[in-house]
Formats: sequence, structure tokens, C-alpha cells
Amino acid sequence: MNVHDPQFIDMLYLAAAALFIVGLRRLGSPRTARSGNTVAGVGMLVGLVATLLLEGFDFDGVGFVLIVVGVVIGTVAGVVSARAVKMTAMPQMVAFFNGLGGGCVALISMAEYQTYLESGHEASNTTLVGIVLGSLIGAVSFTGSIIAFAKLQELLSGRPVTWPLQRSGNAILLAGAAALGVWLVAGAEQGNVMLGIVAIAAVLGVCVVLPIGGADMPVIISLLNSLTGLAACAAGFALGNSLLIVAGIIVGASGFLLTKMMGEAMNRTIASVLFGAFGGDGGQAGGGALTHGTVRVAGAEDVAIMLAYSRRVVIVPGYGLAVAQAQHTVRELSDLLESKGVHVSYGIHPVAGRMPGHMNVLLAEANVPYEQLKEMDEVNPEFKQTDVVLVIGANDVVNPSAKTEPGSPLFGMPVLNVEEARAVVVMKRGMSTGFAGVDNPLFVAPNTQMLFGDAKASLSELVTAVGAV
Ligand code: TAP
Repeated sequence: MNVHDPQFIDMLYLAAAALFIVGLRRLGSPRTARSGNTVAGVGMLVGLVATLLLEGFDFDGVGFVLIVVGVVIGTVAGVVSARAVKMTAMPQMVAFFNGLGGGCVALISMAEYQTYLESGHEASNTTLVGIVLGSLIGAVSFTGSIIAFAKLQELLSGRPVTWPLQRSGNAILLAGAAALGVWLVAGAEQGNVMLGIVAIAAVLGVCVVLPIGGADMPVIISLLNSLTGLAACAAGFALGNSLLIVAGIIVGASGFLLTKMMGEAMNRTIASVLFGAFGGDGGQAGGGALTHGTVRVAGAEDVAIMLAYSRRVVIVPGYGLAVAQAQHTVRELSDLLESKGVHVSYGIHPVAGRMPGHMNVLLAEANVPYEQLKEMDEVNPEFKQTDVVLVIGANDVVNPSAKTEPGSPLFGMPVLNVEEARAVVVMKRGMSTGFAGVDNPLFVAPNTQMLFGDAKASLSELVTAVGAV
């Protein structure tokens, strides 16, 4: 069999595409997510090998050595950074990797255009449109993602940066890049036009992301991820590479759906994220006493007794649990309670934390059994039969004003109905607000008690106290 046979390579591409789809499907559940990641990774390897087998590829040339060196550097950098990154820094890592993907597509499109110019052959309109869209969208995604990374890494202020005539300026930049793109497709045949498109698109990426608040970054990263997928798909048309088209469409569509789902779960439209200049630094630490009413403060011993004599306890984790890195301690507490005959489950809100699936990933790190994790729709009807809800570092996702106060920025966002339980214990450091910056009436509800302190320290105290009951 000739391994360079185009039909054989198409079969490999088909297998790689199938592996991407199976991998993505398996990523849909925490139980199968790890294997889904591996399956998609194998698909990428098959795609890489198939591309190297393409007819006309020079295995003895400098190009091959460069590709091998590139693959080795990329693999080492990927493995090292994925192992070193802290869970709370995951959004900026995704932003950075996404930026690299966008930049890569822009470079491929530029190289492909240069090849056409040098070959003297005439490129088809499909190819030229693919080149223009790949370079334009790829460059926007590159610089936009790098700005998102810098904001989340606190290299730049997380606050929205605004200036006069911002939107009109962005519209002019987009129109300018599009005009150059039309000129290039119409037959400009000049490398400078291509450079102009990429330069304008790079500035546009910066200008679109700078006005967005740091805390809205996960939504914008998901949108940029979707754009990178579209750019890759366009480059796939330019190169006539079916795998790039399929992979690009998968990334583009899944990124778009994720953006839409995150927006809905946060009660934000994509337009309000893009143009609203909302969400400064993602919630303040400590201090602040925004809530008016009587706050009932409990000690760890009181809460331990309530928990140990309950039949049904629901734990609601939020961003504060991730900040405190208390996932292992919460697992310890829930195991202890189960050993005392208490039924424990976890209520997971779709946008608890700061990135999609944040709580699932965090709890999986501590090997919390998947059967104990319940999504919002499943757990909400159960609160009425719950003895104690332990809210750990969560705020907005349990704020009842999302249902009762039309003026609240949270109004309309689906929340966990924890106030319906017999007793609620809220564990946080002080009375500060969450991401949305609004008061939470749950903290002064008659059946709520506050257990103040860092979540990890308070949970350790609870473990000791429950053990002694
Ligand atoms: P938040 O509403 O942000 O509240 C987190 C709370 O954790 C804060 O009020 C803070 O209060 C407390 N906290 C911080 N560090 C702590 C520590 N070490 N120990 C104990 N408590 C600590 O969190 P949430 O309820 O998870 O809601 C998530 C919010 O983020 C939503 O508004 C959502 O729309 C938004 N958002 C989510 C995503 C995704 S995709 N998940 C993306 C962007 C935005 P103290 O300072 O008083 O301790």
C-alpha cells in the first residue's frame, strides 16, 4: 500500500475527524472527559501524521527538520504549562493557547498567499476568500486573546478601558480590513495588501477586547475561541485541507454554543458583554458591608452539630472554594458526614466560579464521586427536603434577588434555590459582594447563618468539629 495515496490520506483525515467528534462528545460529562481529551489528542496525532504523508512533502529537506523541531517544542511547552498551571489560572492559559491558534492561522494564510504570488499561478476565488478570512479573523483572535490573557494575568488592569468613539472606530477598522480583503480577492496581487489586512485586524482585536471587564473575560475567550475555529476553517478552504475545515467548524460551532450558554446562565447577551464595559476585577476580597439586615453568625461547632444530625445536606461550591483551594477539604468533610449516615450531594450552578465547568473540574481534582454532583435543574426541586445547605464561597449563584428584584443586574439569571432548605450556612470571609457586585439578601434571611473565614480554614475546623460530635 502506498502511504502517500490521496485516498489513504483522506481515510486518515476521516478517522481524525471522527476521533475529534467522539472526543468532544466524551468531554460533555465529567465521568468521560479525561478519556475524551485523550481521544481528541489521538485524533490530532493522526491528522498530523496524515499531513506529513501528503504527496510532494520533502522528508529530506530543511522544512521537515523545522516541523519536527516545532512539534517537539510545542509538545514540551504544552505538557509543562498544562502540568504547572493552577486551576484558578486556567482561563488565561486557554486564552493564551487560543491566541497562538489564531496567530498560527493568520501566518498560514499569509504564507499561502505568498506561495501563490511567487508561483505565478492564478488562485481561485474560494482560495483567496479563505486566505483573507483566515488572516483577518486569525489576527483579531490572536491580539484579542493576548489582551484577554494579559488582563486575567493582571499584566493589564482588569477594568474596562474605554475611549470616545470606540465603537465607530472599531467599525472603521473592520470596514478598512474588509475593503483590503475585497481588493485582494479582486486580484490586487500585492503582499502589502495582505500585510495591511493583518495589521488592521491585529489593532481591531486589541480595541475590541480592551473595553471588556476582566470578569467577563471567560465569555469573550469562548467567543474568540469560536473565531479561531472559523479562521482555521477558512484556512482549510485556502489550503484545500478537509481536516482543517472539519476541525475549524467543530471549534467554531462548539465555541459559539458555549458562549451562548454562558451568556444565558449569566443573564447577559453577547452584545452586552462586548459593548457593556461590565465587570471590573471579578469581585472584591474581604471588607465591604453592603447587606442591610440582621446577620446571624455561627461558629464551627454549632454548624458541625447541625450537619452531623442532618439527614440530607447539599453543598453549593462557588468561586471562593476555588480561591481557597479547598476542594480536598470539602471532600474530607463530605466523606466524614456520609460515614455518619448523612446523605451528601453537591449543587452545581452552570456559571459558578469563573470558567465553564470550573466546579466540576475542581471537585474532580479531589475525586469527589460524580454521582454526588447534581446540576441546577436536578438539585433545585430537592432543596425543600434538604436539612442544611452549605454554601461555600458562592454568592451570585445563590442570590434570590435574581428572582425578585427587577432592577438587579442578576434579575432573570437562573439561580440555586438554596433559601428553600430548612437551614443555610454561608461560608465566606466577609460580607463582600460577588462578581456582579450586588447585595445578597440570602445572607440576612431568617434561616441563614454565616460562618466567616477562609473556606479552607473553616472547612478544616468543621472536619475536626464534626469528627468530635
Ligand atoms: P461570586 O458571586 O463571584 O462570589 C464568590 C464569593 O466567594 C465572594 O463573595 C467572596 O466573598 C467569596 N470568597 C472569595 N475568596 C474566598 C475564600 N478564600 N474563602 C471563602 N470565600 C471566599 O461566585 P459564584 O457564586 O461562584 O458566582 C460566579 C459569578 O461569576 C457569577 O456572577 C457568574 O455570572 C460570574 N462568571 C462566571 C463565569 C463562568 S463561566 N463560570 C465566567 C465569568 C463570570 P468574601 O470576599 O466575603 O469572602
